Amino acid sequence: MFPSAVGSKLLMAATGLAILLFVLGHLAGNLQFFGGPDVINTYALHLRDLGPLLWVARLGLLAAFALHLSLAVSLTRRNSLARPEGYAFQTDFPQSSVASRHMWLTGWLILAFVVFHLAHFTFQWTHPEYRELHWKASDGREGHDVYSMIIKGFSQPFLVGLYIVAQVFLWLHLSHAVSSMLQTLGLKNPRNEKLLDLAGPVLATIIFVGYVSIPLAVLLGVVKPIVISSG
Ligand code: HEM
Repeated sequence: MFPSAVGSKLLMAATGLAILLFVLGHLAGNLQFFGGPDVINTYALHLRDLGPLLWVARLGLLAAFALHLSLAVSLTRRNSLARPEGYAFQTDFPQSSVASRHMWLTGWLILAFVVFHLAHFTFQWTHPEYRELHWKASDGREGHDVYSMIIKGFSQPFLVGLYIVAQVFLWLHLSHAVSSMLQTLGLKNPRNEKLLDLAGPVLATIIFVGYVSIPLAVLLGVVKPIVISSG
């Protein structure tokens, strides 16, 4: 069974932090796209070279996602048991932000996006033709041409729209989650409260701009496809 409400909140914050670290790391990796095909494809090759370590990280991330979701379910259940009449209207609490009132909705939408994203770029189920994209490094090593996959992916305005909308949900979720996490971890005090309340929106905005820059750069033709040896 799940730990106490306080323990659950702490675990929720810890798993949220693990996911946030992944989101930041993934963004840093993705931004190498702007360095050109050699840079991002070599990065992808290095990730693959991690072998079993990569799988440990993937399983850790999956566990963090699963735990984060189960804890959200159990904490919500606990709260509704403690307050069985529920809230008549969300507007009873005008001081709560749009982001904080829609954590469930944005959480589910982000999960739906991640499932689609894995089917799109990781497993390439939606676009099996991406599997044909190969790249050869100057030292002769070969790997998947992630650069061209991203260019092809974001040459479709519909997909660019979908990714951008998903980043809006991520922005909303993180805007509230990061500040809430800092409070749960006991980092907030009356002196730094205002500053830490800003941390969520600021960090969420940096993440939003970073992720959105990639599909937009492709769609607007800022980054161009490069003909690379295929096969
Ligand atoms: C414009 C935005 C994004 C781009 C261009 C992008 C790009 C990619 C690419 C190319 C891969 C496959 C890497 C490979 O297997 O070679 C990938 C995997 C993945 N992405 Fe993203 N991504 C974006 C946003 C996100 C966001 C916002 C999240 C999470 C909230 C996310 C979560 C993941 C996960 C969980 C994987 C699987 C990682 C693994 O299997 O090791 N991505 N992404």
